[in-house]
Amino acid sequence: MNDYNLPILPPDAELETKYVLKQLAKTNRALAELKGYADTIPNKHILINAITINEAKDSSAIENIITTHDELYKAICQTGYKNPAAKEVVSYRTALWHGYEQVKKREMLTTNMILDIQQHIENNRAGIRKLPRTVLMNETTCETIYTPPSGEQKLLLLMANLEKYVNEDFDGIDPLIKLAVIHYQFESIHPFYDGNGRTGRIINVLYLVLKELLDSPILYLSRYIIRNKSAYYTLLQEVRTEGNWEAWIVFILKGIEVTSEETLVLVKRINREVDAMTAEIKDKLPKIYSRELIDLLFYEFYTKIQYIEEGLGVSRRTSVNYLTALEREGFLVSEKLGKERIYQNKRLFDLVRYPK
Ligand SMILES: Nc1ncnc2c1ncn2[C@@H]1O[C@H](COP(=O)(O)OP(=O)(O)OP(=O)(O)O)[C@@H](O)[C@H]1O
Ligand SMILES: [Mg+2]
Repeated sequence: MNDYNLPILPPDAELETKYVLKQLAKTNRALAELKGYADTIPNKHILINAITINEAKDSSAIENIITTHDELYKAICQTGYKNPAAKEVVSYRTALWHGYEQVKKREMLTTNMILDIQQHIENNRAGIRKLPRTVLMNETTCETIYTPPSGEQKLLLLMANLEKYVNEDFDGIDPLIKLAVIHYQFESIHPFYDGNGRTGRIINVLYLVLKELLDSPILYLSRYIIRNKSAYYTLLQEVRTEGNWEAWIVFILKGIEVTSEETLVLVKRINREVDAMTAEIKDKLPKIYSRELIDLLFYEFYTKIQYIEEGLGVSRRTSVNYLTALEREGFLVSEKLGKERIYQNKRLFDLVRYPK
């Protein structure tokens, strides 16, 4: 089958149809509510860390890299941890953080940044595809569904066009509609040998941050895509075969609406947990309470003697005493991992692990 002659952006089609605009209003409302609430939370790091662990797990599951929260937790805490799937999921999370920092710093999203993200995910330097014959197949029938463009020069030109569409708002189209267009186009260019899906899902959230629709990278469509996997693939393909932009855009907008609502619930629960634990520590351990200590306990799902020592500027002995007291009162659960003792914030971990 010949390579598909993918048209450059913007699409030669009416995107802002009545149906799209109706969904767009709902999506904007849900997203604005999430942003508004998240903006009021003092330590955003807590939210981002908690939410990206689930995203890394879900996005990797689409690629059949399956791991549990426990495995993932160990791979995060312990350098040299052996489980390859967990390690790959941790790489995804690193790629995401890295991309976020770059977008915040440079206020743009470039082809080079995208290359960098994919490199972090895959841990290799293969870069843009150079060899032809990458095809997308139906996994059960092995029938070719789509043959993306090939040739490094061609792919770079398409990426340059995409980069312009991402960073310049020459068409005045709403950014959420553009996000759907960008995701379709990136997946259709399919610039890499592997990791196009995961990279594309990271681009989605970075684009929301770039357009200031979110301040922190806390909204991810991976769970929605897993739940609606066959619609996701069918609708991507229908843009190409039938020019059906409307159904695709509405599908993505709906995903952002549903996910904003679910994320808002989780963010509120995390916030409540921080408040509850703060009050309990103040009550039970008033001598060791400080705002900085709470931040350290929620920064990740775990802490260590060294983190408390450095974070609070106390001696090793004091740090050990604090952690022992916190464990005795049931705030932390410790475990020896490798050479170190790791103190888990189990309440936060359980809350994120079993999101309602
Ligand atoms: N018909 C299609 N047209 C365009 N893109 C498609 C089509 N079918 C699938 N894709 C995209 O290709 C991605 C898979 O590509 P690839 O294997 O390179 O990425 P991945 O990150 O390794 O996998 P996954 O997305 O399954 O996690 C899918 O996530 C989807 O976004
Ligand atoms: Mg793959």
